[in-house]
Amino acid sequence: MSVNAWMYVLDDASLQEGQMAPVYPLGVNIVLARVSGAVYAVSGACVHMACPVFMGRLEGYTITCPCHDWRFDVRTGKFIDAPELGLKAYPTKSEEGKLYVNLG
Ligand code: FES
Repeated sequence: MSVNAWMYVLDDASLQEGQMAPVYPLGVNIVLARVSGAVYAVSGACVHMACPVFMGRLEGYTITCPCHDWRFDVRTGKFIDAPELGLKAYPTKSEEGKLYVNLG
């Protein structure tokens, strides 16, 4: 299977507004987040010291890492205090009640 394929990761109804969920398509560590109805996907290991991002807080479009409070924009993955750093962002889509992530 091509890694360019859209990968099924979760049923759409399983991700509630304002929630995050870890998923591991092809073993890739990704966190999903739903904000204002849209679903975003960013890498699940913090760029600082690899803490699990999904265990942090989601407030609006901002994810705060649970370990040292680095904050990221869930739409882009960018570290808010230094946008040259950040989490990798992945495209998402919903089809027939299922969420997909494109690993690119
Ligand atoms: S590991 Fe995320 S802020 Fe340090």
